Amino acid sequence: MSQFDGSSEETMRSRRLLKWEDEAASGHWVAEMDFGTAPAIEEALHKALSDGFLGYMPRWLDERTRVATASMVQRRFGWKIEPDTVQLASSVLDGLRAMLGHMLKPGSTVIVPTPAYMPFLFLPSMYGHKVVQVPSLIDEDGVWRLDYEGIEAAAADADLFVLCNPWNPTGRVLTEHELRRVGDIAVRHDLLVFNDEIHAPLADPSAHTPYVSLDPEFANHTVTAIAASKGFNLAGLHCAQMITTGEMTKRFEPVSRWLNHAAPLGALGASVAFESGDEWLADLNEYLRGNVDLIDSLLADSALNWSKPEGTYLGWIDAAALGVEDPAEEFLKKADVRMNAGATLGKGYEKFVRFNFASSRDVVQRSIERMINLAG
Ligand SMILES: Cc1ncc(COP(=O)(O)O)c(C=O)c1O
Repeated sequence: MSQFDGSSEETMRSRRLLKWEDEAASGHWVAEMDFGTAPAIEEALHKALSDGFLGYMPRWLDERTRVATASMVQRRFGWKIEPDTVQLASSVLDGLRAMLGHMLKPGSTVIVPTPAYMPFLFLPSMYGHKVVQVPSLIDEDGVWRLDYEGIEAAAADADLFVLCNPWNPTGRVLTEHELRRVGDIAVRHDLLVFNDEIHAPLADPSAHTPYVSLDPEFANHTVTAIAASKGFNLAGLHCAQMITTGEMTKRFEPVSRWLNHAAPLGALGASVAFESGDEWLADLNEYLRGNVDLIDSLLADSALNWSKPEGTYLGWIDAAALGVEDPAEEFLKKADVRMNAGATLGKGYEKFVRFNFASSRDVVQRSIERMINLAG
């Protein structure tokens, strides 16, 4: 039995986490996991609590987290950066908010390829900007691809491009070639890029390429955001890392003063994760790939479709076969499975649902089987 098995629906509900707040339905929506975190992180956090480590951020911990981040991206992805190009923030979205509020003139245009993580679609308008959604394409092999022609057409009048890799919700891990195409468009049209790599720890390290590592010119227009919060399940501890290199270091300096402070317990968790979490992460990723294979084999004989995710624990399921307006609502009411409704991830995706499979395998199996029974 794996260390990730064994959290039943009842156990999860008793922990009173957000994802499991429904009385009857199984929680497969918000991006948190049912696995707690790595034992080394748990131990460090217990000790911090018993030491009363509950004050403001000490300088040594800020430094330790920046060093750990730089060392992790080099070790896992071969991206060599200096620790002083890393800044702590309370969340990944903090970086996007800082760019929207302090790097763009009001009324700017933000390109968001869809389907997309929900806040990418609604945050820009809160700062007086316009979002251009560029729907993506499915190729002949059933793989989600960015629509480069659509992006290029939108880029002529745009100011910021939101890149998400690994891609929530499709689970794609973009190739070097795909990332270069994005970068070439950004350079040609002088776009800023918010590059969200929060899910990178949940990709095979040999498959994930940090966007900025591809070309020094890409660094000049990019703010990269990463965190231990998805891979190590620490979202509630509020710590993320913004990385700016090349010309962006200077450009971002005044903007970064608007970032909210990271929480010290989150920084401690991130430091331990990035210093010594590789083994736990490898086991986690292997378990998640097992869940992917299971779901893939169950869906193969059903009316539901997905394109097999390459990274992360999110699956993007086409539920058009259900023949209803709002499949997420139908699955919640009639199959006791709570997921994110496709409509919230972009226009034209009303028949999709986003399924979080970071649960124990038998929980995943029971939920998918109930969905298949409903859909046929
Ligand atoms: C792609 C992506 N970016 C950002 C976030 C949110 O991160 P944070 O809580 O650090 O803002 C999430 C959370 O699910 C996410 O999936």
